[in-house]
Amino acid sequence: MFHYPTEVELLQTMSRIAREELIHFDQVCRIMQTRNIRYGHLSASRYACGLRHLTRSYEPGRLIDRLIISAFIEARSCERFACLVPHLDNELSWFYRYLLKSEARHYQDYLALAKSIAVRQLGKQCNLSQRIELLRQQETELIQAIDSDFRFHSGLPTAA
Ligand SMILES: [Fe+2]
Repeated sequence: MFHYPTEVELLQTMSRIAREELIHFDQVCRIMQTRNIRYGHLSASRYACGLRHLTRSYEPGRLIDRLIISAFIEARSCERFACLVPHLDNELSWFYRYLLKSEARHYQDYLALAKSIAVRQLGKQCNLSQRIELLRQQETELIQAIDSDFRFHSGLPTAA
């Protein structure tokens, strides 16, 4: 059972992030439309599926893990936007820089929420940094593994 302030903090932060992500989705759709790029459905990537399997199956560990993993995904997005920005036209370069700043805020929001929930649910003695480090190691393995599908969060491409 959540403590009331934690639940409010979680709902408000997640609601704000969801609104921002939907604005980005709308902006991406408009850019795709102006560039005649067709929208196509993508299944979850190997990276995303691998991360999903790392979450614990019980609360509050499950929620804390999902927040930490979300922080890693946002941080990887920042890393990849930063790599792409110098190679893009003016419109996309500006847009990706704008997304990068937003993802950097989300990354910090998710980590702050994970810490807040861990302290409230498990007490000040809970060792969140140990869990973050374990997930960090597994996330690094996933992002560095070879990928046959090219995605934004793909690992190393297979040799052509
Ligand atoms: Fe985000």
